[in-house]
Amino acid sequence: MNSKDALTDSLTSSTSDIVVWGDKYATGIKLIDQQHRELVDLTNNLFHACLDGEQAAKPAFMEAMHRMVEYVRFHFNMETEMLERIKYPGFSEHKKLHETLIKQILDAAEQFKEGKKFVPNHFVRTLKDWVFGHIAIHDKFYASYVTEQKKKGLLNDKMINGS
Ligand SMILES: [Fe+2]
Repeated sequence: MNSKDALTDSLTSSTSDIVVWGDKYATGIKLIDQQHRELVDLTNNLFHACLDGEQAAKPAFMEAMHRMVEYVRFHFNMETEMLERIKYPGFSEHKKLHETLIKQILDAAEQFKEGKKFVPNHFVRTLKDWVFGHIAIHDKFYASYVTEQKKKGLLNDKMINGS
């Protein structure tokens, strides 16, 4: 993490948003980055819904959580399809990471709904760390592969986007 990212993170943890888009999350793949930015917005919406207070915000919080979980599913499916299409060598491992992450999120959501383990704020922070930790580490691996293959002329945007 560079100093600018660290500063952004420390500022956001105490003020408005829980996650701010930055270079540390960028893959350089337009479609993926657009979807990751959408995940930033959905995560922040969820965070704000929970900051409003558990009781008052409960329906809004549940709605925001549902939207985030559904979008994570949609996005992971799309990303997995792309990785298969571009013959990413780490495709199987990455697919497994997505499956594990979805399961973790659903389990956490279930525990949260049952009133176990999480308070809303902690729940959103955990989700944020899982999803954006994955993006900042594992998605960067395939981003490097894509950059390399493009340089070699073995991949182009048409192949990446599947159109
Ligand atoms: Fe991923």
